Amino acid sequence: MLSKIKDLAVDLTPRLIEIRRHFHLHPELSGQEYQTAAYVAGVLSSCGLQVQEGIGKTGVIGELKGNGKSTLHLAIRTDMDALPIQEATQLEFASRVPGVMHACGHDLHTTIGLGAAMILSQFKDSLQGDIRFIFQPAEEIAQGALWMVEDGAMKGISAIFGVHVFPSIPARCVGIRYGALTSAMDDLEIVIQGEAGHGARPHQAIDAIWIASQVITSLQQAISRMQNPLDPLVLTIGQINGGKAPNIIADQVKMVGTVRSLNPELRQKLPTWIKGIVEGICHIYGAKCEINYRHRLPSVQNDMGLTKIIEKSALEALGEEHVISIFEPSLGAEDFAIYLDHAPGSMFRLGTGKENQHNYPLHHPRFELDESSLVTGVVTMAYSAYKYFQPEN
Ligand code: NI
Repeated sequence: MLSKIKDLAVDLTPRLIEIRRHFHLHPELSGQEYQTAAYVAGVLSSCGLQVQEGIGKTGVIGELKGNGKSTLHLAIRTDMDALPIQEATQLEFASRVPGVMHACGHDLHTTIGLGAAMILSQFKDSLQGDIRFIFQPAEEIAQGALWMVEDGAMKGISAIFGVHVFPSIPARCVGIRYGALTSAMDDLEIVIQGEAGHGARPHQAIDAIWIASQVITSLQQAISRMQNPLDPLVLTIGQINGGKAPNIIADQVKMVGTVRSLNPELRQKLPTWIKGIVEGICHIYGAKCEINYRHRLPSVQNDMGLTKIIEKSALEALGEEHVISIFEPSLGAEDFAIYLDHAPGSMFRLGTGKENQHNYPLHHPRFELDESSLVTGVVTMAYSAYKYFQPEN
C-alpha cells in the first residue's frame, strides 16, 4: 500500500502545487474563507466524497466511506484561513489580496487535506473504516475548531490527525512529539480603579498607574518564586491603558494579556492564584480591581498510540533520517486542542525549511516554504490514516 500511495502522491504533485499556489494567491481572513471553502468542496466532490458546506460558518466536511469492516471513524483536520499581513516575498504567486497573506502555511495544510482525500478515495475498498476530512475556518483567531465542533464535526469520531508546517525543520522531514505539543492559552484582563488627583499631590489620590506597575512586577516575581520552574508558565501583559495628562493622577488602568501553560492542573489553579496576587496588592494601596480570566484553548496533548502510528508511518515512508523527535513543546497555541476534548488525536509538524537560505518564521511577511514538503505531508497523512485502521497498525 505504501508504494501505491507514494507513486500516486508523486503523480499528483504538479496538481497539488497548482492548488496550493491558487490558495496562496487568493488568501482569505478568518471566518471569510468563502472562495477557499467552495474550491475545497469542488475537489472533494470530484473525488466522490460526500460533502457538506457551511459547517462551522465557512468550514467544509468531506466523508469518505471505507469498506465497512471497522466501526472506527478517523478525522483528518486542516485549517484554511490566512493572516492580516501584507506579503513581502518576491514569489510569482504572492498574494493578490492587499494586506492578506498565507503566512502560517494553512494554504499547504488545506492542500495536504485535499491530497490525502484524492489518494485515499482511490483505495477506499482497502480502508477498513470511514474518514472525515475536516476543513476548518478561523484557526488564527482560535474560533474555527469550536464552530466546527458545535456543528457536529466530531460526532462519532474515534481519533483525529492534524498537521502544521514548521520552517525550522528542513523540508522532506517531519517532527514527532509525544504528549504536550503546544501550550494552553488563556486571556487575562485586569482593571485597577484608583482615585484621580493632582500630579503634585499624590497623597490625596490613589495612583492607578503606580499600582498597575506593582501588579505587573509582582506577578512576574511570583511566577519565578511561587511556581515550579520545571512547569512552564508565561504571563505577558501585551496592552496597558490609563491616564490622560502628565499632571493628573490616573484613576483607572486597564491591562490585557495572555497566559500560557502546559500542565492542565496548574492551569486550573491560575485564575484564583492570579486573582489573589492582584487583589492583595490593590488592597494594600487602597485601590479596587476587577479581574477577568478566560480559558481559551487547552494544550494540544498528543495521544501516545496515535503518535506512534504517525511516527511508524513516517519512518516507513520517509526513512529514519527524515523523522525528527521534537524535544520541546511550544508555548504557542493551536485550536486543534479543541477537538481533543472529543476524541484522542495527534498532530505532527511538517518541515518546510529551505536548504541554504534564511527561513523566516511563521507569521512573517517574508515567510516562504519549500513546496517539496507538500508530497511529504500528503504521504505521511495518507499512510498514517491507512495504518490507523490496520489491526496491527
Ligand atoms: Ni497556523
